[in-house]
Amino acid sequence: MSKKFYITTPIYYVNARPHIGHAYTTIACDTIARRQRMMGFDTYFLTGTDEHGQKIERAAQAAGKTPQQLTDEVSAQFRALWDRMGLTYDDFIRTTSDRHKLGVQALWRRIRDKGYIYKGHYTGQYCVFDELYVDSVGPGEPCPECGRPTETVREENYFFKLAAFQDQLLELYTRQPDFIRPETRRNEVTSFVRSGLRDLSVSRSTFSWGIPVPDDPRHVIYVWLDALANYITALGFGSDDPEKYERYWPADLQMIGKEIVRFHCVYWPAFLMAADLPVPQRIMAHGWLLFEENKMSKSRGNIVRAETILEVLGTDALRHFLLREIVFGQDGSFSFDALVQRYNADLANGLGNLASRTLTMIVRYFKGEVPYPSHSGSRAAEENNIATTARRTIADFHALFEQCQFSRALEAAWGLVAAVDKYLVENQPWALGEKDDDESRSRLATILYTSAETLRIVTALAHPVMPDATAKIWGQMGLGDIGKFSLADLQWGQLRLGTKLGEVQPVFPRADKAAIERMQQLEEQGRTVSPSVAEKTSPPASTTPVPIMPAAPVKPATIVPDGKISIDDFAKVELRVGQVKVAERVKGADKLLRLEVDLGTEVRQVVAGIAEAYAPETLVGRKVVIVVNLAPRKLRGLESNGMIVAASPEGGKPVLASFLEDVPVGTRLK
Ligand code: MSP
Repeated sequence: MSKKFYITTPIYYVNARPHIGHAYTTIACDTIARRQRMMGFDTYFLTGTDEHGQKIERAAQAAGKTPQQLTDEVSAQFRALWDRMGLTYDDFIRTTSDRHKLGVQALWRRIRDKGYIYKGHYTGQYCVFDELYVDSVGPGEPCPECGRPTETVREENYFFKLAAFQDQLLELYTRQPDFIRPETRRNEVTSFVRSGLRDLSVSRSTFSWGIPVPDDPRHVIYVWLDALANYITALGFGSDDPEKYERYWPADLQMIGKEIVRFHCVYWPAFLMAADLPVPQRIMAHGWLLFEENKMSKSRGNIVRAETILEVLGTDALRHFLLREIVFGQDGSFSFDALVQRYNADLANGLGNLASRTLTMIVRYFKGEVPYPSHSGSRAAEENNIATTARRTIADFHALFEQCQFSRALEAAWGLVAAVDKYLVENQPWALGEKDDDESRSRLATILYTSAETLRIVTALAHPVMPDATAKIWGQMGLGDIGKFSLADLQWGQLRLGTKLGEVQPVFPRADKAAIERMQQLEEQGRTVSPSVAEKTSPPASTTPVPIMPAAPVKPATIVPDGKISIDDFAKVELRVGQVKVAERVKGADKLLRLEVDLGTEVRQVVAGIAEAYAPETLVGRKVVIVVNLAPRKLRGLESNGMIVAASPEGGKPVLASFLEDVPVGTRLK
C-alpha cells in the first residue's frame, strides 16, 4: 500500500465571489497534491465553502436572498472556477450539506460527553467580519484583528474549556515543531497561548443560520467550530462510513492564510484533543497577496479575478507567477505588469524557447528522433557539467518543494534552463546542423540529446506547477501521458534514444502590452458590470486558455431614445444603505472627510467632499446612500472605495441623501 497524503485548503466564505487571493491557496494545494500523486502517494485533496454564521446571514439579507440561495450561488461560483482552472480536488465540502451537519454534531457530542462543554453567558464584543469573540476590547472599540467595528453580544452560550488545553497545546508545539509553519507563525502562536487562554464560547443563540446544537436547538454551533470540523466531516467522520476518515486522518498538510492561524493552531487542535482525536501533522500559513500594497479583499475593493488572467494568459501562467514570484509564507504583490514580465521571461523566453529550439532542431536534423549522444574527447566535460547540474537540481527541487519553498524550487529549475541555454549558445548546434561531416553530426547529436534530456527533466519537475503546458511539451517529446510518469524515479539519462517526437508547436506565445491592457479592461468590466456576490456562476468549465488577443470592443450600452439610459444601464449602479461608523477630517483638505461606512457585509472607507457641510461627529451613526461598485480612487493619498450620494445645489453645500423611515444597513436601492 502506498503512503497516504491528505491536504486541505481553508473553506472559503461565500459572502464574496472568488478572487486570486483564494485561488492562491487553492493553486498551492493543487500543486502539492499533483506532485504527491506523481511521487506515488495515495493523495486526498479537500477544498470547499464555509456557509454558516452571521456574516453570511447578513450578506444574504443585503443581497435580498435567503442564506441558502446565496450560499448555493456563491459556492457554485467557487467550484466552477476551480473546475475551469483544472484544479484536482478530490472532494468539495459545503458546510450546509447534511453529511457535514451530522459530522459536526457528532464532534460536538463527543467533546460534550468528555466534559469539555458547559453552559454560561457571554457578554462582550464580537467581530462579525472575522466571526471572532474579542475579549480584549470594550463596547464601541474596533476589532484588533481587522479594525472593523465590533458589536456587543449578550447571550446565553455554550462554552468550550479551552483554558484546560494550554499546557497540552504548548507541548504539541514543542513535540511537533512542524505543526505550525513557518517559524514566525509558530512563535506568535506559542506566545499567544503562553499568555493564557480563556474558555471559548462555542454557540450563538441570537440568530439561526447555523447547525443546531444537539439536544438544544435554540443554539447554533459557533461557525468556527462548524467550519474547522469540515476537515474530518468530509472524510465521513461521525457517519456510517468512516473509511476515508480512518484512511486519511490526520491531515499531512493544512494550508491556510496567515490571518486564520489562531483558529487553526489553537482552537482546532484543542477541539480535537478534547474529542480525543489525532491532530494534523503540519499547518502551513502563507502570506497575503497584495494589490497596490493592500491585502486583496472584497471589502477593500481591490480584488483581481482569476478569470481575467485565465482568459488572457491561461492557468499555467497564473500558477507559475504565484508560486515563482512570491516567497511562500510572506506577503507578495500582484500586478499585471509583473505577471506579464514573469510570463515572458520564464515561460515564453525560458522553457518555451528551450522546448521549441530543441525539438525543432531534432525534427530538422534528425527526422524527429532523439539522437545518440557520443561522449568523446574533451567536449564531454560540458555535457557532464549539465548532467551534474541536472542531478543537483532534481535533489534541490525535491527538498525545497517538501518545505513549500516553491519560488526557490522553481528558481533552481530555471537555473538549469539557463545553464542549458548558455550551453546551446556556446555550442551553436544550428551552425553544426548545416555541416555534413561525421564529427559535426556526432557533436550535434550529443548537444541535442543533452538539451532534450534537460528539457525532459525541467518539464517533469514543473508539471505539478504548470500541468497543461508541461503535458503538451511531454507529448511533443513523444513521451506519452505525463500523468503516468513517476517523479520519484526522475534521473538524468532516462530519455530513450530514438524516441519519436510528436508534432512540435509553441506552447507559450509571447505576451505584449496588449495583454496587460486586455486584462485591465476585463477587470474594469468585471468590477462595474458584475460586482455583487449574487451574480451568475462562472463560464463553463475549460482549462484551455484563449490565446493572447487584441482588446475586444466594450459592448455598447443599449440605445434608448432622447439620451435616456435603459433600466439595464441603471442596474449597473449598485446603491446601498450604509451606516457611518467613523468620520474624521482629512489633514490638509478643507472639503474632505474620511468615512468608514458599514454596509452590512463589510466596512468601506469612503472619502467624501462634504466637510464644509457636515461636522464629522454629526455623521457617526447616520444612515447614508453609497455607490458601492465604483472603481476605487485615491484622494489625498487615501483610497476611496465608493461614493456617498448627496444633492449638490448650485452654489450651495451638499445635502446627504437619507430616509424618513428606518432601512436596514446593506439594503439595495433600485
Ligand atoms: N471561512 C474561513 C476559513 C475557514 S477554514 C475552516 C475564511 N474564509 S475566507 O474566504 O476569508 O478565505 C480565507 C483564505 O483565503 C485565506 O486563509 C487565504 O488562504 C485565502 N485568501 C483570501 N484572500 C487572500 C489574499 N489576499 N491573499 C492570500 N490569500 C488570501 O477565512
